[in-house]
Amino acid sequence: VFLLDSSRLQEYLRNDWIVEQLQREERAGDEIFIAHRWLKASPAKRLMYDCVYHDFFECRGLRILDVGGSFCSLSRALIQRHIYSLLELAAHDPSTDLRSVERAVGKRFWIEGDWYSQPITGTYDVIVANDLFPNVDQRLELFIEKFLPACREMRLSLTYYNHPRFYLTKRVDGEEILCMLAWNGRQTGQVLAKHADRINQPTLELLEANESVFENGRQVCIVRLRGAAA
Ligand SMILES: C[S@@+](CC[C@H](N)C(=O)[O-])C[C@H]1O[C@@H](n2cnc3c(N)ncnc32)[C@H](O)[C@@H]1O
Repeated sequence: VFLLDSSRLQEYLRNDWIVEQLQREERAGDEIFIAHRWLKASPAKRLMYDCVYHDFFECRGLRILDVGGSFCSLSRALIQRHIYSLLELAAHDPSTDLRSVERAVGKRFWIEGDWYSQPITGTYDVIVANDLFPNVDQRLELFIEKFLPACREMRLSLTYYNHPRFYLTKRVDGEEILCMLAWNGRQTGQVLAKHADRINQPTLELLEANESVFENGRQVCIVRLRGAAA
């Protein structure tokens, strides 16, 4: 487990390879995807991407399942190098655009829908969830339980807040207005602690730190869990 902090960000920015590659690989239409725009705009998001995906650009042939990965111009290289599947609800991006990327690259890679409802059909070398849990989706524990048996490694970047942060939200299947209180580091650590034997250096007390490299004050930690299919 480690945190995205300012020293890591400074270190990454000495060789900001993602910003260069994003520009080099950009095709008409990529700007539609929110992950692409966020990466271009935010050095901290690029650090996060680097921590999660870096080594995928140095090898080939891995079976990768990317849950909530959206799309950016670097995704094309992942699709070409690996057996890459994207399990994505497409909450931000118009769903037809992922289908047109599939047509352009000549490969099907998108599994559309909520990860919870998807049957697991095989095993993966790496299952990734970058910036999905627990801030966007609080079902972190269910996710680990469902997918850990199906991979050799699970890689997560987890976003939480060590100060009260809440959103008024509306149910999509009802009228009720709900107040969603974002998780803090202690809550996030409690879920990870159940799997501490699968984490190298499970220093979960780190999650209670307060320094943030993001403008909205969020905390992000990176966790790698050894999967049961190892
Ligand atoms: C905060 S964005 C992160 C996107 C990208 N991974 C990144 O880091 O820029 C969360 C992504 O997860 C997707 N998502 C949200 N809930 C999901 C679910 N239940 N199943 C699959 N994808 C989901 C959204 O459509 C969105 O693309």
